Amino acid sequence: MTDEVYPVPREWAEKAFVDADRYAAMYRESVEDPEGFWRREARRIDWIKPFTKVKEASFHEEDFGIKWFSDGTLNLSANCLDRHLDERGDVTAIIWEPDSPDTAGRTISYRELHRMVCRFANALKEQGVTRGDRVTIYLPMVPEAAVAMLACARIGAIHSVVFGGFSPEALEGRIKDCDSRIVVTADEGLRGGKTVPLKANVDTALLACPAVDRVIVLRHSGSAVAMQKGRDLWWDEAVAAVPDDCLPEEMGAEDPLFILYTSGSTGKPKGVLHTTGGYAVWASMTHQYVFDYRPGQIYWCSADVGWVTGHTYIVYAPLANGATQVMFEGVPNWPDPSRIWQVVDKHQVEILYTAPTVIRALEREGDQWVQATSRKSLRLLGTVGEPINPDAWGWYHDVVGEGRCPIVDTWWQTETGAAMITPMPGAIDMKPGSACRPMFGVKPELVDEHGQFLRGAASGALVITDSWPGQMRTVWGDHARFFETYFTTHRGYYFTGDGCRRDEDGYYWITGRIDDVINVSGHRIGTAEVESSLVSHAKVAEAAVVGYPHDIKGTAIYAFVTLNAGEDGSEELRQELVKEVRHDIGGLAAPEVIYFTPALPKTRSGKIMRRILRKIAEGDVSNLGDTSTLADPAVVDQLVANRPVIE
Ligand code: WT7
Repeated sequence: MTDEVYPVPREWAEKAFVDADRYAAMYRESVEDPEGFWRREARRIDWIKPFTKVKEASFHEEDFGIKWFSDGTLNLSANCLDRHLDERGDVTAIIWEPDSPDTAGRTISYRELHRMVCRFANALKEQGVTRGDRVTIYLPMVPEAAVAMLACARIGAIHSVVFGGFSPEALEGRIKDCDSRIVVTADEGLRGGKTVPLKANVDTALLACPAVDRVIVLRHSGSAVAMQKGRDLWWDEAVAAVPDDCLPEEMGAEDPLFILYTSGSTGKPKGVLHTTGGYAVWASMTHQYVFDYRPGQIYWCSADVGWVTGHTYIVYAPLANGATQVMFEGVPNWPDPSRIWQVVDKHQVEILYTAPTVIRALEREGDQWVQATSRKSLRLLGTVGEPINPDAWGWYHDVVGEGRCPIVDTWWQTETGAAMITPMPGAIDMKPGSACRPMFGVKPELVDEHGQFLRGAASGALVITDSWPGQMRTVWGDHARFFETYFTTHRGYYFTGDGCRRDEDGYYWITGRIDDVINVSGHRIGTAEVESSLVSHAKVAEAAVVGYPHDIKGTAIYAFVTLNAGEDGSEELRQELVKEVRHDIGGLAAPEVIYFTPALPKTRSGKIMRRILRKIAEGDVSNLGDTSTLADPAVVDQLVANRPVIE
């Protein structure tokens, strides 16, 4: 079978920053002379004190460490704001589109954004926040989310944004892990016509976080919320009496910028730490080349700021590049499945960056919702978060983009800071379903189970063999876990956790997670977290969670649960367990299927054989592979025979 190839459109090859020849030359330079390449690319950032050192990185235990531009200083908020003011201060930075199409939106220029950030930075300072302090941000998709993040960057505080869909329990864990004493939130969020009780969630979380002594609350929905005297402060009151200007702190390139929690195979979520200088260069560069972005173009990344996509491709990269962008509070299919395209038309969006799960959900609604809109402004489409199936790719390309817009399928991770494997619209012929070729400076390799590099066309575990500027620097509070998690599976290389195929043209095809992480609608869920939530229920003896293919979510969660003796796997209990997971983690981790079973397949040493559970969940029971190590093969026969039917 030969894969379909969509050649670079001629007008893109002619006009783009990077064409095929330039990609080849720049890529070669980036890996053969990284010092020279990055010294030049780093000029895109305004440094206060220029760096002399470029890359100091080792993935080996003896001298493990990652530093970029380490003796340079800068302020990233100044790079996102101040430096645009002279020439482009009145240019729109953010076009805010509210949840409801009947609510008035907002348009915020760089000058206004600068003022908002300075004022909030001063408010934070007034509350005693200083360099290095952690500020937890739990806000809806409103401009103030970006303002709060940039205000932290301005004064050298480290933000930890928690997605508004996480439960109070999950929020509590994240606040405690990084010892924040301040939380920034809103009365309520609004999504798809429903309210999200953000302030109430914070109140619940804080019952167990005595160290938090200040909560700043943005008035957003306007609903009445409880305000705790002495602790809670309205945003508007916090900024009422502060000056309009706030001098940016001079930060070292390796000073922390933010922590973002993400799930791994084991234990509780890890606080992924990104630092300032390398991340700034990496975010800005990838945004410019991948989206071929030029100031003036209208750009829209539909992610939430609570995920890394929002950090990099809503806040830091587009603002560093002086972009004009749409920020959307709502959901793509509310009030109807045309909304996303209506927003495109309303704001004349040229570049749209969204997720496969959104594309699949909208495709299912039928073409009429798309065709009811013009979309003539669109020039480039992007996707991120999970593998995109060629069918959804084709729909995005042919129906949404009417065959005229290239698609950039960008593979990356919270840990990698920005796009790692991706086409560039003027340079790389596209193959539907492939993230295509490595970004400058990225050296991917595939390894087999013995840790041997595979050559040519092959499938294996995806590792990156050398550092890039936007790489995470540590797990907050647990440097040993950082090394352990990413650099010991294949010694000396960064292990991504993804499986991947490389074809005869050197194109990369991500096949999905090969660790115990499930990617549900592009959101990472650790099986261990869901399992620990399930077993915390008094009636549950044991639980094993795997992913299975799902039409819309890409992968959904399938839980095998054994109950304590005498308990019954009723519908009522199923609902209770789903509620438990929603409570402990959030709705996004709720299992789609719960299969009550008397026993789980185990090896003689007592290890649950997930490989077999995965096959059963996938409905692929004809070939369960090697079952000779099972302690009791009858368990598998029973599991297969009694498995629930999934439509
Ligand atoms: C995991 C990272 C990067 C921001 C959003 C997710 C999967 C991501 C792609 C893609 C195939 C992809 C991988 C990766 N993934 N983008 N274009 N094609 N898979 O960030 O939550 O850190 O998840 O998402 O499995 O490891 P994240």
